Amino acid sequence: MKVLVVGGGGREHALVWKIAQSPHVDTIYAAPGNAGIADIAECVSVGVGDLDALCTFAGERDVDLTVVGPEAPLTAGIADLFQEKGHRIFGYRADGARLEGSKVWAKQFMARHAIPTGAFTIHSDPVEALKEMEGGTIPCVVKADGLAAGKGVLIATTPQEGRAAIERVMVDRAFGDAGERIVLEEFLSGEEISVLAVSDGESYRLFVPSQDHKRAYDNDEGPNTGGMGAYAPVPSVSDTLSERIRREIIDPTFYGMRAEGIEGVGVLYFGLIITADGPKVLEYNCRFGDPETQVILPLFEGDLVEVMLASTERKLDTVYFSNSDEAAACVVIASGGYPGSYKKGYQIEGLGEASKTGCIVFHAGTALMDGTVVTSGGRVVGVTAVADNLEEALSKVYRGVETVRFTDCFSRSDIGKKGLERV
Ligand code: GLY
Repeated sequence: MKVLVVGGGGREHALVWKIAQSPHVDTIYAAPGNAGIADIAECVSVGVGDLDALCTFAGERDVDLTVVGPEAPLTAGIADLFQEKGHRIFGYRADGARLEGSKVWAKQFMARHAIPTGAFTIHSDPVEALKEMEGGTIPCVVKADGLAAGKGVLIATTPQEGRAAIERVMVDRAFGDAGERIVLEEFLSGEEISVLAVSDGESYRLFVPSQDHKRAYDNDEGPNTGGMGAYAPVPSVSDTLSERIRREIIDPTFYGMRAEGIEGVGVLYFGLIITADGPKVLEYNCRFGDPETQVILPLFEGDLVEVMLASTERKLDTVYFSNSDEAAACVVIASGGYPGSYKKGYQIEGLGEASKTGCIVFHAGTALMDGTVVTSGGRVVGVTAVADNLEEALSKVYRGVETVRFTDCFSRSDIGKKGLERV
């Protein structure tokens, strides 16, 4: 089989790494891929936003299965286009991808299906939004409706911050048209977890729950990032809590999708918060998480290609799907300055040494320059370790992290700490 993976970050490297383990696969293409992906796949220089070129490539190379990493091509309708042209694709069609692409639509969907989430109002007029915010509870959350590269969620701890957030999103249009409407939402406190489900429109299967670390620095300080590390499983997610999450959130979500005629072939990411009143949805994503994928796939024991094929054929309930009872941890090594501006092109040393410590190095923002691996993004590599338990996975991963060096690099030193405290 020939498989095309769309994307070029750490998530896509983990997908390519797992797909390459399937005996069904002869050739993997990645568009555009990165320096690490290039070791196991043929990288093609087509951008993730060029849907027509991706579709033409899949047709010309007789690609048997296309797997989409990022949200933008899914919300733009890549799955609809591929299906129209008769190419098999694993990823939500545009109607399902609205769960991520429109925060307004997602909240209305949750309201229609009584799925627990924070109380909210929707605004397209900034004056009304300001009035509502000033008369409401603080802290509050201001969310741009559309995609904003993970930056469109602003937490306001004072009315002044609330005003600034509304003006930034709706008036200054910091995120362009994504800020045409906003969700003004109750601030929820509790532990955040990510639960990822593969679905086929009829049934679903769950990967092990994981936890991301979104802030740039230790102790959850500093600006929000795409994610500085993750671990799985999450010790605080007991069997009772898992059952509650399934019953109150996951089942009603898939039921709601079916009831509304949404196909649901692909992955749905449930961004949850465990509040004193129980689990609630913070967000849906219509794709694998990054860096969560770098810990859940090393713990996944089935053949990912068989799972994805079965999903496209509505036969997910017939396929082997099992998660290991080990633990995994991933630490992201980032460019100094990230998530703000940073320099690129620094040589990365110690990648081979990290692999010798038994870690898996997933490349995110890397490129090849004259045969040397150099930095080309904010999140540069994610070092992942698997071990019998979380404590061992964390010791192992930090031994691997110590070996990787490039100018101005930084990483968090407390990934998994909350999990360890709960063990
Ligand atoms: N790690 C957060 C996300 O993938 O959206």
